[in-house]
Formats: sequence, structure tokens, C-alpha cells
Amino acid sequence: MNSVLILNGPNLNLLGTRQPEVYGSETLAMVEEKCRAYGASHGLVVACFQSNHEGALLDQIHAAKGVHDGIILNAGAYTHTSIALMDAIYSVEVPTVEVHLSNIHARESFRHTSHIARAAIGQICGFGSFGYLMAMDALRHYYEGRAAK
Ligand code: DQA
Repeated sequence: MNSVLILNGPNLNLLGTRQPEVYGSETLAMVEEKCRAYGASHGLVVACFQSNHEGALLDQIHAAKGVHDGIILNAGAYTHTSIALMDAIYSVEVPTVEVHLSNIHARESFRHTSHIARAAIGQICGFGSFGYLMAMDALRHYYEGRAAK
């Protein structure tokens, strides 16, 4: 079974009450539970972590090397600012899918830039919490492609 780490960054602990018109009404605990259940029925072991601190997210990415087969990362606002998170993804070489609940490209221009996107295998945005499940499918597809080589 492949193991996937779902990492959520700043303010995502407030899901459910934070701008529900943008981010939906599910809490982070609900989203994480949905991901664990989806993973379990699709051959993935899912671990979840959220932090409001860039360094804590960096530590999790570093610790993922050799432990997890993939990372699903919603870095929140650090997406648009953090070269350190981008470098960490490059450094550990764990395939990473970037996820955003909202369509960042349809929002303010400062959200159009993602440093994560350069290091990720792909980006999913605009589909709400379903995006995390899509990201799991993307990783499964990626593993199948790698196994076929
Ligand atoms: C977000 C989009 C970011 O621009 C924002 O700062 C977030 C959430 C999303 O999931 O849509 O915190 O990553």
C-alpha cells in the first residue's frame, strides 16, 4: 500500500467557519476523515497534518522522505510566498500534488502565483474538498505509470 501525507497550511484549521462561501462548510476534521476513508478504499494509507507555521510544514516535508510515497499539499497563503516550501519539495523528491479548495487563478492576482507549482507534479484547484480526492487519484495514476516503466 502506498502512503500519502496530506499537509494543510495556515488558516486551514479554520475550515467550516472561514469564508464558507469561498472554502465550503466542511471542517478540516471532516475533510481529513473523508480523505482517510477514500484512501482506505483505494489502496492508500493517509496521514494528515496541519500547521499555521511554515517551519513545521517544512519539517513534515523533510520527514516524509522514505516514509510517504506522496504528499498532497495545500500550503494556504504560503503557496504564494514560500520559496522554502518549494525547495523542500525539490529536496525530498517525494511526488507532491498541490491542492487548493478555491480556484486561485480566478481570484486576486497575488494568488495567481504558486511557488509550489514549480516543484509539484501537478496542481488541482477550484473543486473544494473534492480536490483532495482528485489528488489521491492523481497520485495513484502516477504510481501506476511509474510501475509500468
Ligand atoms: C487556498 C488559497 C490560498 O490563496 C489561500 O491563502 C488559502 C486557501 C485554497 O485552498 O483555496 O489559505 O490555499
